[in-house]
Amino acid sequence: MVLIHGFPFDAELWDPQFEALGREYRLIAPDLRGFGNSSATTEYSIGAFAEDIAGLLDRLEVERAVVGGLSMGGYTALELLRHHRARVMALVLADTRAEADAPEIRARREAQQDQVIASGSDSLVDAFLQTILSEETRSDRPRVVDALKGLMEQPDASWIGGLEAMKNRRDSSDLLGAIDIPTLIVVGEHDAVTPVEVARAMHDGVRGSRLVVIEGAGHISNLESPAAFNAALKSFVDEL
Ligand code: MLT
Repeated sequence: MVLIHGFPFDAELWDPQFEALGREYRLIAPDLRGFGNSSATTEYSIGAFAEDIAGLLDRLEVERAVVGGLSMGGYTALELLRHHRARVMALVLADTRAEADAPEIRARREAQQDQVIASGSDSLVDAFLQTILSEETRSDRPRVVDALKGLMEQPDASWIGGLEAMKNRRDSSDLLGAIDIPTLIVVGEHDAVTPVEVARAMHDGVRGSRLVVIEGAGHISNLESPAAFNAALKSFVDEL
């Protein structure tokens, strides 16, 4: 199973899933280019991220895998599906969406890029945490907040590049109706970035998909409510 992290994090986002499922399943969690231990690049695009994953599967001689992604990782998983359909045996789409950015989201990302250039990415961290975590997580789970702060320590160039990649991504809605592999859609109950209605619409669009709403979680459901997320993931892959 390949697990693709969201923005602006790295593979350590998936630590709770490695702890729970890592003995039973072979989990592969790459750092996307520019994030974590992967080196910086000049090209940041969802297409390039997806090709990197395909290349990694080649290198590891993995023919087919369950491919899961959270948020930007979900955008990447859908792009991988578009170009490397045969490599994907099942899909996990967590706190993500199929549509491209709406104009106001593009404008917001541009403003964020300008802010990183002017004041550094640190200046965005608090506002991001406010948006991506549920109120419950922010008030009751300081360890999760700290872990995410640590994960957000990515180079400024990668923040700018990741925002660029998401801003320019294509619409993947056309793929949904043709998905004929097992698909799990997970969303935090209080996800303010890719809300439950968005997940429900994807669930309606993908025949036979399973939708799990994670109570109390925001946009980073795998880390905010690992027990519920892991249970959903485990029961999905156990049945494959
Ligand atoms: C992510 O979690 O990857 C990003 O917040 C997604 C987004 O901003 O579209």
